[in-house]
Amino acid sequence: MAEFNMQNYLKFWGAKVEEFYESYMTVGDEHVKGLVSSMNYSLFAGGKRLRPGLIYSSYGIFEGFFDKVTPFAGAVEMLHTYSLIHDDLPAMDDDDLRRGKATNHKVYGEATAILAGDGLLTKAFEVMTNTDINPDVEISQMLEATHKLALATGDKGMVGGQFADMEAEEGLFNSKTVDFIHTNKTSRLVSYCCELGAILGFGTEDDKKRMREYGMRIGLAFQIVDDILDITSTTAVLGKDVGSDVDRGKATYPALHGIDESHRKAELLIEEAQEIISTYGKTAEPCRQIAKYIIERKN
Ligand code: IPE
Ligand code: IPE
Ligand code: MG
Ligand code: MG
Ligand code: MG
Repeated sequence: MAEFNMQNYLKFWGAKVEEFYESYMTVGDEHVKGLVSSMNYSLFAGGKRLRPGLIYSSYGIFEGFFDKVTPFAGAVEMLHTYSLIHDDLPAMDDDDLRRGKATNHKVYGEATAILAGDGLLTKAFEVMTNTDINPDVEISQMLEATHKLALATGDKGMVGGQFADMEAEEGLFNSKTVDFIHTNKTSRLVSYCCELGAILGFGTEDDKKRMREYGMRIGLAFQIVDDILDITSTTAVLGKDVGSDVDRGKATYPALHGIDESHRKAELLIEEAQEIISTYGKTAEPCRQIAKYIIERKN
């Protein structure tokens, strides 16, 4: 069998999402031209498109009408992109480089960057609840998908994790705190992406739970690897500033457990994730490959 190329795989699904953005991200009134341009700047800045890739891959376990998923994959990537724009702001991580380009606030200024983030967050829900562009999604699926996205990314999820991340900066933190931060700021959204495939693909409650649990593990491993790469990689490879976690005294896995131990923990999580989806057959192969990639990735 030919080698599975994850870069190409994610690019393939990323292109579907970008095509959707091309048609959807239009300027309304002239007055918001600068805002839409700032939103598009970050949306089209590149990025691995891991979350869309995960949504298509998990959906593929249950159904194969992939066009049905595109607006949802686009919406989740919009929300993820908003989280990066805000994460990079001077009031938060204060970073200058993202996806190989100057961060949004460096180009458009802080006020516009904040609003671009707000705009992308809100637009994600606009897209998911737009019945014109989602003709094959049942209203009950739409409601479940939207509600669970809000839960995964608000105060009980991503935003809560981001708050705890800021609170822990330069402070004392233990492994309970770091687990809370990582689980919430990153794993909850990743887990949601995996469950979303089951929601849109008419999976059972058991399927949703299984995909959620697989997602929590790969999500946590993903953030642990992100922490490791911040120490071991280079700006050229990552496309974002390296060393900023240490500079800011961030609560990270390597800060607490060291690089080797953190790597082992990530490996263990990936093994558990693979075990959880082992009940599925060939259609789960992309999800297996993504789990492998998460630990092997270089950027
Ligand atoms: C960065 O996410 C933020 C984290 C949760 C670690 P990604 O590493 O997926 O960023 P992009 O989308 O590829 O830029
Ligand atoms: C960011 O975590 C997580 C979210 C944006 C929700 P990090 O601060 O570690 O992400 P990077 O390293 O800047 O991409
Ligand atoms: Mg951060
Ligand atoms: Mg950051
Ligand atoms: Mg990081």
